[in-house]
Amino acid sequence: MGAAAQIHSTEDARQLAKRRLPWMVFDYIDGAAGTETGAARNRAALDAIPLRPRILRDVSERSLATSLFGATAERPFGIAPMGMCNLSRAGADLMLARLAAREKVPHGVSTVSSTPLEEIIETAQGHAWFQLYFSGDGAGTFKLVERAKAAGYKTLVLTVDVPEVGRRPRELRHGFKMPFKIGPRQFIDFALHPSWSLSTLIEGKPQMANFDMPGFDFDRTESRARATWETLARLREAWPGNLVVKGVLDVDDAVALKAAGVDGIQVSSHGARQLESAPAPITVLPQIRAALGTSFPLFYDSGLRSGEDVLKAISQGADFTFFGRALQFAIAAAGESGLHQLWDVLSDELSIAMAQTGVCQIRGNNNQIC
Ligand SMILES: Cc1cc2nc3c(=O)[nH]c(=O)nc-3n(C[C@H](O)[C@H](O)[C@H](O)COP(=O)(O)O)c2cc1C
Repeated sequence: MGAAAQIHSTEDARQLAKRRLPWMVFDYIDGAAGTETGAARNRAALDAIPLRPRILRDVSERSLATSLFGATAERPFGIAPMGMCNLSRAGADLMLARLAAREKVPHGVSTVSSTPLEEIIETAQGHAWFQLYFSGDGAGTFKLVERAKAAGYKTLVLTVDVPEVGRRPRELRHGFKMPFKIGPRQFIDFALHPSWSLSTLIEGKPQMANFDMPGFDFDRTESRARATWETLARLREAWPGNLVVKGVLDVDDAVALKAAGVDGIQVSSHGARQLESAPAPITVLPQIRAALGTSFPLFYDSGLRSGEDVLKAISQGADFTFFGRALQFAIAAAGESGLHQLWDVLSDELSIAMAQTGVCQIRGNNNQIC
């Protein structure tokens, strides 16, 4: 049996990924900030939300499609921006891009993607959102904005929850750095995971692919601390398309962002990779929804592992959701067929949960009952 056929849940994909990936890479993807209590709290909060079964409604016709910035997306979930995806497997960025094109869902393209942003949006047939980190004094950042615009991106996602990169001990213990160096410790790790090493390193070490422009060297650990509300105002002026701010966990911040003219807000704790003691984002989602009103585009990521989780996030006020680690586990486990298999699992889980709770159609936070 191929590895993809062994994926019946995100946890199956995670276990397969753990076997195949070098420890350094698995811990980079799987790890969280500090002693990882934030990740556990987030999971516990999601687990504690029940979905109420409803009965005897004709739920035979169900659609998983929804609308996002005026266009149809085939699923109410998309691909969260993740740096260096090609570490999970050579070609991972473009596997995600092809999936985005097929499903008409956004592919979040990280500032530190391992494939050039132009190539990704072309492969995604336009279904790509560019994720921006403000960095250093901002000069390089604004050049990157112009480049994203020239490449045809219509949605920009400003990630604001990384003023400094969080400490993730699992990464630090392996000496994980980007671009990474292969010292004796990494050499042993890679030698013990030959299937990954042969297929990934033969393609050339994955690189941060967006920094070949003159005068813009990106240091992943460089301080992003100088961004302010004034930076946001400059960005609003520079970006005519949709502007989404990602990494919001405070009601007052959300209200101020709406007043500042952003087009959408993504409630997220960066998958608990930043501030260990941040609240479980799913618990602040209903408060932020209440403060913003029902029609403001509100998105959610962090800790989602199943289709039922997606329905929970929607029931708490999200219009649209994003998966992060789960998709990388699937790719690491079984490549593009693993990704498609997990995508089908998540879709199936959502569809079944909709039937069981009497939901025929996803209409953002105004979840429609049959
Ligand atoms: C390996 C990895 C790299 C990430 N890189 C970025 C990034 O470059 N930019 C960003 O905004 N978020 C990044 N994130 C955070 C994701 O966009 C998302 O918030 C998070 O993964 C959601 O949680 P989940 O993994 O539990 O689904 C990264 C997450 C992971 C796991």
